Amino acid sequence: MPSVFETGSAAKAIPITFASKATWDAIRQALPAEARQFADANRFAAKPGKCLILPAADGAIAQVIFGIEEESAKSRDPFRAGALPGLLPAGTYRFANTPHDARLAALAFALGSYRFARYRKTDNPEVRLVPPDGVDAEDLARMAEAACLARDLINTPSNDMGPAELEAAAREVATRFGASFACIADDDLAKGFPLIQAVGMASSRAPRLIDFSWGDPAHPKVTLVGKGVCFDTGGLDLKPSSGMLIMKKDMGGAANVLALAQMVMDARLKVRLRVLIPAVENAVAGNAFRPLDIFKSRKGLTVEIGNTDAEGRLILADALALADEEKPELLVDLGTLTGAARVALGPELPPFYTNDEALAADVARLSRQEHDPLWRMPLWPAYDSWLDSKVADITNAPSGAFAGSITCALFLQRFVEAARSWLHVDIYGWTPQAKPGRPEGGECQAARAIYKLLSERYG
Ligand code: BES
Ligand code: MN
Ligand code: ZN
Repeated sequence: MPSVFETGSAAKAIPITFASKATWDAIRQALPAEARQFADANRFAAKPGKCLILPAADGAIAQVIFGIEEESAKSRDPFRAGALPGLLPAGTYRFANTPHDARLAALAFALGSYRFARYRKTDNPEVRLVPPDGVDAEDLARMAEAACLARDLINTPSNDMGPAELEAAAREVATRFGASFACIADDDLAKGFPLIQAVGMASSRAPRLIDFSWGDPAHPKVTLVGKGVCFDTGGLDLKPSSGMLIMKKDMGGAANVLALAQMVMDARLKVRLRVLIPAVENAVAGNAFRPLDIFKSRKGLTVEIGNTDAEGRLILADALALADEEKPELLVDLGTLTGAARVALGPELPPFYTNDEALAADVARLSRQEHDPLWRMPLWPAYDSWLDSKVADITNAPSGAFAGSITCALFLQRFVEAARSWLHVDIYGWTPQAKPGRPEGGECQAARAIYKLLSERYG
């Protein structure tokens, strides 16, 4: 997708004036008499999200007024301007005044112009924006492009996004930035990564572990791990149809890790980056893994399968174990791991987990700053024993129905020992209902906030 940002001259761009209930009166007074009458005739009152397109004498578009909340409004949507690309006719626009946060508004504008066009041409008008003065437009374009990548990968249905296609997508990103790319499959996977093999073996589309590295080996090691379940039927503990419906998004962790990696490499951050993506399809077949099967994981812990639908933590466990072997400075994993995370916090607010207090504070601050919402939940030690199995070292699915996102995080924690610090995010990866800047469908979650964290630390 080409950038929505137009770096040419602002002189010919159509001005967009942001108005709130408090500022509308003064803005209205300053309009030329005809424009004021036009606004009044349209009963425009600068309600948040409402757009008024003012004509010039020759019938062209003279300017646009767009309603936003007061800065102090409790329910203020910092991405309000993300609705504009869906409201405006084709053309090049600029901000005539400063919305509360011009940088976030411009980012929202870019995120709001995304359309998933792989299977049907959209006839959306081409709406472009001259970036506001003083913002780093290159950085905004980088973030918007990464979000589009994540969304495209998630939105692509599973028939066109299996483990092989996910590998191809990762290879494309890796080679564009000169990363060294490897992919482990077949016997090597079965021998070295028994849990990835167990989850993926029932599919005719072979499981694999994508592994690429980039950057100066002398720089701090940052490793990103993303859950790449290209479709999650639940395995033999099959999901009901309502739960299975959007499981093409179950590679949302992988998609967001690729988006994050792309931003890190494009910005040339001073890290030695490693990306690990276990890519599988959790399918149903005669050779599928079964409830109460026991596998010896890469790390050596034996894992009893309480439920084949708790497959994400299994494939991440083996990938995290590999990542942990080289003692990275920072180990991050993202995955669409539990329905319980949605019960707790809903689709827009993924929980994150870490025992590194400084990291937690940075993630919380930057998620707010970037409007990439994340909320800390605890690695509650008292629940760790819920993972006990009677016959193996650990079960992948505790029998109780409580604290499902926490117990998943605790399961993953068993596979991380040597990493200096570890961050786990239980994302949703999907916008169920369109909001400004967030079209319905696949969503980029956590990647922008973590990109900013890495920029601050290693920029
Ligand atoms: N991919 C699902 C989690 C999921 C479901 C995320 C719906 C977002 C929306 C995951 O593999 C899963 O099925 N988890 C189970 C775990 C349970 C069996 C312990 C869940 O959450 O029900
Ligand atoms: Mn599952
Ligand atoms: Zn899953």
